[in-house]
Amino acid sequence: MKYRHLLPIILASLTASGASGEQLFSYSTPDGKSGLRLALRSGEGAQWSPIGDRLNFVSSDFGPWGAGKKMFSPRLFVNAADSAWTCVWEAKPDGSVTALAVSPDLQRWEPQRYFASPHDQPRDMRPLHPITPDSATIDGVTVKGYRQDIMPEFAESLRAYATERARLAALYSQHAADDPARFAGLGTVTFSATADPARSYPISDKLIGIFFEDINYAADGGLYAELVQNRDFEYIPSDRKGDPAWCATHSWSTTGDGTATVDTIAPIHPNNPHYMSVKGSLTLTNSGYDGISLTKGEKYRLSVALRTPHAVNITVTLTTPEGETVAKGVLKAKGSGGWATCTTLLRASRSVSGARLNLIFPKGTDAGVDMVSLFPKNTFKGRENGLRADLAQTLADLRPRFVRFPGGCVAHGNGIDNIYDWKGSVGPLEARKPLRNIWNYHQTRGLGYHEYFLFCEDLGAEPLPVLSAGVPCQNSSVAAHHSDHPITSLGQQCGIPMEEMDAYVRDVLDLIEYANGDISTEWGARRAAAGHPEPFNLKYLGIGNEDLISEVFEARFRMIYDAVRARYPEITVVGTVGPFYEGADYDAGWRLARELDIPMVDEHYYVDPAWMIHNQDYYDRYRRGGTKVYLGEYAAHLPGRPSNVETALAEALYLTAVERNGDVVEMTSYAPLLAKEGHTQWRPDLIYFNNDSLRPTVDYHVQRLFGNNPGTRYIPAPLKVDSDNPDVAHRIGISVTTDEKTGEHIIKAVNLLPVEAKGNIDLSALGVKPGSVRATILTGTPADTRAIPVQTTLTLPNLTLPPYSFAVIRVR
Ligand code: AHR
Repeated sequence: MKYRHLLPIILASLTASGASGEQLFSYSTPDGKSGLRLALRSGEGAQWSPIGDRLNFVSSDFGPWGAGKKMFSPRLFVNAADSAWTCVWEAKPDGSVTALAVSPDLQRWEPQRYFASPHDQPRDMRPLHPITPDSATIDGVTVKGYRQDIMPEFAESLRAYATERARLAALYSQHAADDPARFAGLGTVTFSATADPARSYPISDKLIGIFFEDINYAADGGLYAELVQNRDFEYIPSDRKGDPAWCATHSWSTTGDGTATVDTIAPIHPNNPHYMSVKGSLTLTNSGYDGISLTKGEKYRLSVALRTPHAVNITVTLTTPEGETVAKGVLKAKGSGGWATCTTLLRASRSVSGARLNLIFPKGTDAGVDMVSLFPKNTFKGRENGLRADLAQTLADLRPRFVRFPGGCVAHGNGIDNIYDWKGSVGPLEARKPLRNIWNYHQTRGLGYHEYFLFCEDLGAEPLPVLSAGVPCQNSSVAAHHSDHPITSLGQQCGIPMEEMDAYVRDVLDLIEYANGDISTEWGARRAAAGHPEPFNLKYLGIGNEDLISEVFEARFRMIYDAVRARYPEITVVGTVGPFYEGADYDAGWRLARELDIPMVDEHYYVDPAWMIHNQDYYDRYRRGGTKVYLGEYAAHLPGRPSNVETALAEALYLTAVERNGDVVEMTSYAPLLAKEGHTQWRPDLIYFNNDSLRPTVDYHVQRLFGNNPGTRYIPAPLKVDSDNPDVAHRIGISVTTDEKTGEHIIKAVNLLPVEAKGNIDLSALGVKPGSVRATILTGTPADTRAIPVQTTLTLPNLTLPPYSFAVIRVR
C-alpha cells in the first residue's frame, strides 16, 4: 500500500475503455538491451509514437555489468493490491528470472526485485485496469508489448517528462569543443562578489581525501613496492577469466638441468598452499610486473622462504633484459629442514627498466621455495613491506585528510565468496589469504588493512575503511556461494546467508577492535603483534558500496549498523546511497539514512563536465542537520574519457560549490586514484604511472590545489555574473574561505569560458587591502592534458581570470 496516498493521482492516469482515446504501449527492444520504452497513440488504428528518443523509463539492473542486463516483455499496470504502477519483465531470455519495479508515476522507481519463479512473486498482483498484449511498429521496427488506455493528462505528463530528460541530456552534452560556436561573439565577461563575513559558517576540515582501490594494478605492481610478481606462487586460473597462463608459475621461468615443480605438501602456511620445489642445478627467474625497475645506487632487500634438508648457498642476481648482471648476492640457507626466511641486500650498479631477478640454485639442491620478495630499501617513510616512495609521495602531496580503502567494487566483491575479508589481509605475509580481484586479477594483500592504517598514519589522514554491507556487488557474475540458483548464479545482489550474518557482524566489530582496541583485547593484541601497539584511532567506517538498496541489503545493513552503534557509538558510520546522483537507490538510500539517522552517506557520480557546470546548486538544496554527505567517488567524464583542462576545471568549479556546502558535505574523493599504463581498466584516473615514472593528470593538480588550500570557515560572497545566459553565468565560480589556523583567507576562482572574466571581488569586510597578490593559476586550452599550475601575480579587488583557468589566492 506504499502508494495509497497517491491513489487518486494514479487512478487519474487511467481511464475506462479508451474513452479519452489515449493509449499507452509498453515494450523493450527485441534483443532485450533496452529498458522499458513507452509509446502513445491517440486511438485505435492511429500510429504509435515513442515517448522520447530511445528513452528507457526504467532499465533492468539484473545480471553482470553491461550487456548482461536485459529486459524482455515489460508489462505495465496499476496493481490492484497496492495501487502502484508496477512493471514486470523477464530479466533472462529463458524467462527463468522475473523482475518487478514499482513507481508512482513511471518516472521515479523503487529498487527492483527479482524472482526465480512466478510463484515467488507477490501473490496479489492484479491489474486494476485491463492491459492487452499487442504488437506495434515503432520507428520502423515491429515490437511486441502491451497496450492500455490512459488519461490524456497522464499521457501529457509522460511527454513532458521525456521532453525534460531530452533537455537535460542536451544540456549535459555541452562540451568545450563546441565553445567557439556556443560563445561566438562573447566578449569579456564581468562579475562581482562581496564577502560577507557576518554570515560565515564553519565547514568541514576534511573535504579533500583520497579513495584508494586496487583497480588498474594500483596495489600489486603499483603502490605496494613489492617488485616480484606472484611471489608466493598463488596465482590461480580462476583469478583471471580467459587466461590459462594465470597460474602458479605466472611470471616465473627456469633454465638449467634441475627441475622446478609446483608443490603443495607441507606448505609454509595453509593460506599459502603452493610453493616451488627445486631439485638440482637450476635458475629460477622472475620477470616482475612488466619487468623490475632498478635505480643506480639503490639498495634492494631480497627475502626468500626456503625449506631444505641441508645447507645451501643460493646466488641471486638482478640482470638487464640483455642478461648483464647489475646486482649480485648470496642467500645462505642453513638447512634445518623446516621453512626459514633468508635475506640479503642487493645494490644496483646502474638504473635498469625491465630487469629480472634470478635465484641460482647449485647442483644437489633439494629446496622448497616460497615468498620470494624484493623491495626497494627506500620505500615511503622507509617502511618494510612498504609503499613505492614516489607514488606515495605524490599522494601525500595532495594533503589528503582521509583515505577510503580498500576499494569500491573490490570491497564488496564479485559474489559473496569474493567479499574483501579484512582478516585475510592482516598478520604475517605468508598467512594472508590471496584474493581474486574483481577487476580480473590477483590480490596478494601484502598491502592489507594493517598497511592501509599505517599509510593513513604516515599521511596524517583519517582512515576510512569500507566493508561490504553483507552483500556483494550488484553486478556480480556469481553472487552466492557456488550457486546454481537462477538468480544468485548470475549476478544480482544476494546477501550473506542470515545464518552466517552473526559471524560477519563479529568480523566488522573485530575490525574496530583491531584498529582501536587495547592490546589486552584479541584483535588489539594482533595489531600489537604486527608492530603497532598504539591504536590507529579509527573514527569512520564505511558500510556498503553503491549497493542496490534492496530488502536483502537493508536487512543486513541494519544488523551491522545496529551492532556498531551499540558497541562503538563513537564511530561515524558511512552508509551508501547507490551509484548515481538520483534514481531508485539514491532515493531509497537516503530514505533509510534519514530513518536510521546514519551519520553520513557515501554518494557516487561520474558525470559529464556540463553536469557539474549546471548543477552547482546540487547541495544547496540539501537539508541541513542530520545525515552528512561523503562524495566518495566522482569525476568528470568526457567522451573518450580524457583527463584534461576541461574535466579538471569542471571539477574545480564543482568543488567551489562543494566548499560552499561544506556544512553538509563532509568529505570528497576523486575516483579512481591510480592506473598503471598497460593495465588501465577504467579511465579517467587521477594519476597514471609505469614502473619508472608518474604522470599526474590536470585533475590531480586541481585536487592538490584544493587539498593544500583548505578553509575551515566559508565566507559567503554571492557571485553576480553580468549575463542573463546561464551557459555563461554557470561557467564562473568562486569560493572564499578562511583558514582559522593561519588566519589566511583563500579565494578560489574558476573561469570555464573561452574569454577573459574580469571580476570585482570585494574582500574589504575581511580587512583585505587592494593590491597585487601572489596566486597559483592553472590554465590551458580545454583539450590540454599537460597543464600544470604556475605561480603568478594577480590583483584584488579587480581580478582578471584568463580563459579556462582556475586561480587560488591566499591573503591575510
Ligand atoms: O571507481 C571505480 C568503481 O566505480 C568503483 O569500484 C565502484 O565503487 C564504482 O562503480
